[in-house]
Amino acid sequence: MIHGVHSNEIQELSNKLFSEILKEQQKVMAVKPADEDKKHLTEEVLKEYEGYKGRGFFFNYMASGRGHGPFTEIIDGSVKYDLIGAIGPNLLGHSHPLYIKAHLEAATNDVMMCGNLLSHLEPYELSKTLIDSVKGSRLKHFWFAGSGSFANDSALKMLWQKKAPNYRLIAFQKAFAGRSIATQDITYNAAYREGMPSSIKVDHVPHFDHTDPENALDKTLNALKEVVKEYPNQHCAIMLELVQGEAGFVYGTKEYYEGVFKWAKENGLYIWVDEVQSFARTRELFAFQHFGLDQYVDIVTTGKALQACGTFFTEELNPKPGLIAGTFNGSIAALNAGNKIVRYLTEGNFYGENGRIQQLEEKFISKLNHLGNTTCKDKIGYAGGVGTMISFEVGDASKETTSAFIKKLFENGIVSFLAGKDPVRVRFLLPLALTDEHIDEIFSIIEKTAAEVL
Ligand SMILES: Cc1ncc(COP(=O)(O)O)c(C=O)c1O
Repeated sequence: MIHGVHSNEIQELSNKLFSEILKEQQKVMAVKPADEDKKHLTEEVLKEYEGYKGRGFFFNYMASGRGHGPFTEIIDGSVKYDLIGAIGPNLLGHSHPLYIKAHLEAATNDVMMCGNLLSHLEPYELSKTLIDSVKGSRLKHFWFAGSGSFANDSALKMLWQKKAPNYRLIAFQKAFAGRSIATQDITYNAAYREGMPSSIKVDHVPHFDHTDPENALDKTLNALKEVVKEYPNQHCAIMLELVQGEAGFVYGTKEYYEGVFKWAKENGLYIWVDEVQSFARTRELFAFQHFGLDQYVDIVTTGKALQACGTFFTEELNPKPGLIAGTFNGSIAALNAGNKIVRYLTEGNFYGENGRIQQLEEKFISKLNHLGNTTCKDKIGYAGGVGTMISFEVGDASKETTSAFIKKLFENGIVSFLAGKDPVRVRFLLPLALTDEHIDEIFSIIEKTAAEVL
């Protein structure tokens, strides 16, 4: 269906613009240091911005709006590998043709944003694609939200309405669920809710312990049994990330999750999976599909790489009118991009055995292990992850050492970030635009940085 205004001339101009923009962006294709005459710019702009924001920045980074594939340009003219993708959203890489197309098509529309009261074709088409992508599960509906945190809030409200007055929630240690008033209580790190009153009652149990895989399920089940013994008949659901992002990519096995989920079902609990970070990044579009858990999930939240956020839910959890609403679905360009992204990913060779995502996972983990066993012995320790979510430990895995490593890595041409606490890990959220040549260069930068810092 045609969206917005359309004519042959608009189409011709749009095609021309598309190729001109892409050609210009493609000039940003290699790591380079700052330009001498622009060196001062980033610090100056960030300093001023810090004043407006009230807080400093971790990296000396201010995007110029130019970049291509895995490369991002900073206003000082330097170019770096972006291996964190704005903490998740930028899965396809910079100036991907689909992003450019989505913007140009959106420009023919009469509005910027669309919402729930008066609908548009973009959220309709994206919903259809999304529901189609979960057809092996019992998820039947999707509701948009303005952020991952708010998608989680909607999920909680649906569960509460269905299970009232069982308002307690079971979540996992090291979980991160967002920054809203509800999700800050689900998030495990108490430093993120300093001075806050507790608004929901959450009981945290241990996630999969990769240092003791044989007993991991029993440890979780024992903790779950303790929790329901202490608070009988008071919980609505069990909520978890199958791959815990902020924890540094902590994840279990299919058997582990099945054991936990069977117990949850036997105990009358709904299963809520938070895929805000893991969406599109495992060897299947959803982590619950990657682990073969389609039959168990009752409610799933998503965001980041989709360019939009929202909540999938079953027929049974469909709330009464009035509970869930809100002005925005998202911007026309973002919803349009979301639809193109899901179709591109599911129709291309990204998922499944030998898909590009599996190749990236295997390449990164084996190369990190190789460094840890050879030139970076005692410098690079644990390396692991699922799909495009890769993490590793450097030196003593303390916050100080890992921050120093990440800052040097940035100077040397790679943007990454921290994750986890005891141990702290280096986190990559890889873009799909990486070629094998890029990966070789990335590993020589990692090796050089380890020699300099550790
Ligand atoms: C697993 C998970 N849930 C929820 C959120 C919150 O999403 P948002 O920052 O869009 O509110 C995040 C963000 O990092 C996340 O990683």
